[in-house]
Amino acid sequence: MEKISQKNREPLHRVDSKLKVTGVARYSAEYHLPGLVYAVLVTSTIAKGTIKSVDSKAAGRAPGVLAVISHVNAIRPPGYPADNEHPTEPATGGQPLRPFYNNKVYSNGQPVAVVVADTFERATYAASLVKVTYAQAEHRTDFHANMDKAVLPSQAKKNPKSPLADYDRGAVDAYKNAAITVEAEYEHSSEMHNPMELQAITVHWETDDRLTLYDKVQGTQPTQQNFAREWALPPENVKVIAPFVGGAFGNGLHNWPHETAAIIAAKMVKRPVKLMLTREQMFFMVGYRPRTWQKIGIGASSDGRLVGISHASIGQTSSYEEFTESTLQQSRMMYNAPNVSTRYRILQLDVSTPIWMRGPGEATGAFALESAMDELAYKLKMDPLAFRILNYTESDPEKKLPWSTKFLKECFELGSKAIGWEKRKLEPGMLQEGHWQIGYGMGVGTFGANRGGAKVRAKLFGNGSLVLQSAVTDIGPGTGTAMTQVAIDHTGISAERITFQLGNSEFPQAGNQGGSSTVNSVGSAVIAACEALKKELLTLATGSVPEFKDATMDQVVFENNEITLKGKNVRMSLADLMKKSRTADLDVIEEAKPGEERRAYSMYSYSVHFAEVHVHAVTGMVKVKKVVTCADAGTILNEKTAGNQMIGGVTGGIGMALQEDAVMDHRFGRYMTKDFADYHVPVHADVPDIQVLFANKPDYIVDPMGTKGIGEIAIIGVAPAIVNAIFNATGKRIRQLPVTPDKLI
Ligand code: MOS
Repeated sequence: MEKISQKNREPLHRVDSKLKVTGVARYSAEYHLPGLVYAVLVTSTIAKGTIKSVDSKAAGRAPGVLAVISHVNAIRPPGYPADNEHPTEPATGGQPLRPFYNNKVYSNGQPVAVVVADTFERATYAASLVKVTYAQAEHRTDFHANMDKAVLPSQAKKNPKSPLADYDRGAVDAYKNAAITVEAEYEHSSEMHNPMELQAITVHWETDDRLTLYDKVQGTQPTQQNFAREWALPPENVKVIAPFVGGAFGNGLHNWPHETAAIIAAKMVKRPVKLMLTREQMFFMVGYRPRTWQKIGIGASSDGRLVGISHASIGQTSSYEEFTESTLQQSRMMYNAPNVSTRYRILQLDVSTPIWMRGPGEATGAFALESAMDELAYKLKMDPLAFRILNYTESDPEKKLPWSTKFLKECFELGSKAIGWEKRKLEPGMLQEGHWQIGYGMGVGTFGANRGGAKVRAKLFGNGSLVLQSAVTDIGPGTGTAMTQVAIDHTGISAERITFQLGNSEFPQAGNQGGSSTVNSVGSAVIAACEALKKELLTLATGSVPEFKDATMDQVVFENNEITLKGKNVRMSLADLMKKSRTADLDVIEEAKPGEERRAYSMYSYSVHFAEVHVHAVTGMVKVKKVVTCADAGTILNEKTAGNQMIGGVTGGIGMALQEDAVMDHRFGRYMTKDFADYHVPVHADVPDIQVLFANKPDYIVDPMGTKGIGEIAIIGVAPAIVNAIFNATGKRIRQLPVTPDKLI
């Protein structure tokens, strides 16, 4: 396949920016279907127990109310699995919560009823009138009090080769015999998913067995499959529409109770139903980065060579689903340590199910690993960058495979130069400006360069314009823009003549937008479709234009909306070619899949983040002054959208390091932080100048564009870079995120 190198050109502007800034773009709560009614949830006020009664009389009598639905009267989706309480098979190792299934309560904030009315305000008012009484059972929500109940996930019990299973390379706990060792525990709170767009769904039962969902999801077809199963419908009877998603970061990778609640409601009232969560409800039922405790033992010889790493973690999950993530991956493959052990455990509590949140697992693990590396470098009296370079690996020590590509060293060089790493002092507390203590820190990140199968349709119209279609979503990275760029590169058709349509389950196959895999997967299919299209165009040319007779693919070039005979002054616009050959349109669907190369190479994206922080000596206030972030993500298709990704990831990392903290009152098993007044995320004043750099070296083993994926590595390693910089500024090592001022005074 033709390999395209980075062209020297201005990055394409976002193709959908005008639609977004003018409000033309429609999100899932903006489909005003005829007869639309509004659903509002009533949620549990206990963490565990059973519902004794639901008094819906007052709500039912309230103006405009069409239905008050709870387990008492809800219809049951016909595709629910057998009537067992804790099935362990599907998706993430459990059963997504079935709303109104029975009288059981598994977490505080769980939907227990839904009220449908003719306006949102009336539904909201009526929901406040529903009286629910409970028989409360004793709940377990306190992570620390229950840590001894953590278990190996059942996935790992069943399959010892699972990446979640216990892993040993070399001798167990060999670090203990090293000359210099660090043993430490690290922890962060749960971080709640709060993208700008609230979770929302608009449901339309077009007929009794045809369902259309305008839903905020990261995968139209995975959602189609889930709800087809739930409602025992053929998948083609379920249509999922999500052309615009206002940020998701992982919480659209799972289907949640409010979606089923709205579908039940629409079925029962026989009207299209819209259900949008409140900001408060976002904290209770649509996933979060789970609270995780970690322990690292790490040791090196006195000259700084790693002897061993032992890394254990416990992540919280719900009582009804086993959520797992790859917290310990980076510890197994990032450094050249002969002895590595990892132990992954989960702790089931009476809380709602967590879900992947940007850099899932790895961002958590990197906080501990990259902090411990910094602690060890300090004990060794070594520069932390030099320490990492000394323990750099040129092949994968876990899988014993060559890297497809790895340009992390190049990133080290670019990034350290840009931050001015030479200003950093080995001893903490050496740099000051008035009351501000100044420090520098770094953190490394990695994430699998994932790729799945995908199909893309390419349709060329008689006027020379091209429409591409994929079921994939765009949760913000600018997928349509990047895919348009790929199509330009492979057809020579100009941007304004290309439309990339996405976010519709009826379009050709695509998985979730997740795991930094979209460009690798869908972009490869765009290329396949474009190549197929060019073949058909060449056939048209050889058949209908005498000058092109007998021309082969390597004798022609497609550029400037034309087909040209190389070296000859023979050219024809694609529109003229279509006319000349009497072709109304060309229509191809092609598939692209990864192949055997996945067995022969280990494929990862890498990042390194350098932070300069200022810490106020009296108040403990932390100001992140500058971040330099550098990614080895393969070819950068578009510096602007890729740069945006990195800036967003660093911003999320600042939140993780300094602000985000879901605080629960264990008397009630309920989060007290449930709005942006109490749950802090970075605002502009918290985010400094972020300089983005790219190694920009293609990896043609991962895919024909040479891309590797960016979304996750943008955040992985950011929090430890900041924490390490705080140590360098103050000499205070904080191992509990977020690092709020009280921990520094
Ligand atoms: Mo991402 S956590 O795969 O949306």
